[in-house]
Amino acid sequence: MIGTAEEAHTTRKEQFMKRILLFTAGLTVLAVGVFGQGEADYQNWMKTVGATSGSLRKNLEAKNAEAASADAKKLQDAFQQVHDFWHKKNVDDAMKFAMNASDGFRQVAEQASAGKFDDAAASLKKASASCGACHAVHRGKASDGSWKIK
Ligand code: HEC
Repeated sequence: MIGTAEEAHTTRKEQFMKRILLFTAGLTVLAVGVFGQGEADYQNWMKTVGATSGSLRKNLEAKNAEAASADAKKLQDAFQQVHDFWHKKNVDDAMKFAMNASDGFRQVAEQASAGKFDDAAASLKKASASCGACHAVHRGKASDGSWKIK
């Protein structure tokens, strides 16, 4: 089943066009993923982070090992995602702040689950320094007063 040269040419051209279309569609998905959906995700992570770090503080004060270490693990995971977000954008300092936070909360989780509440509180304080450090550089205010990435 070999077609004429003309047919083969048309088919090749069609395939080429299809590939270009696919490629463009792929790029669009990528762009939306990194810059559109990504920022909505980011805001969700930060809202979770804000709420969870408040809960962690309370659970440490109440010496509730299980709840505190669950909170700290959730924070560790959230900052892993935050790290990956900045990694895709190649922003070194933000990646480092996120990694420090993630490492810090891993420590808090370990210490809390071992019942070392004073150590955990000290680690929490250290991990929380990354919040302000990153916000000072990468958190901006939108004209409507909400927070945005900069
Ligand atoms: C790697 C950078 C980085 C780190 C680390 C970081 N933040 Fe953020 N945070 C941001 C950016 C950027 C915004 C603004 C974008 C947004 O709100 O979506 C933000 C926004 C927020 C908001 C506002 C959310 C909203 O839009 O309503 C809260 C609350 C918050 N962060 C809490 C924290 C806490 C608590 C920590 C530490 C435990 C922390 N953040 C660590 C970058 C970071």
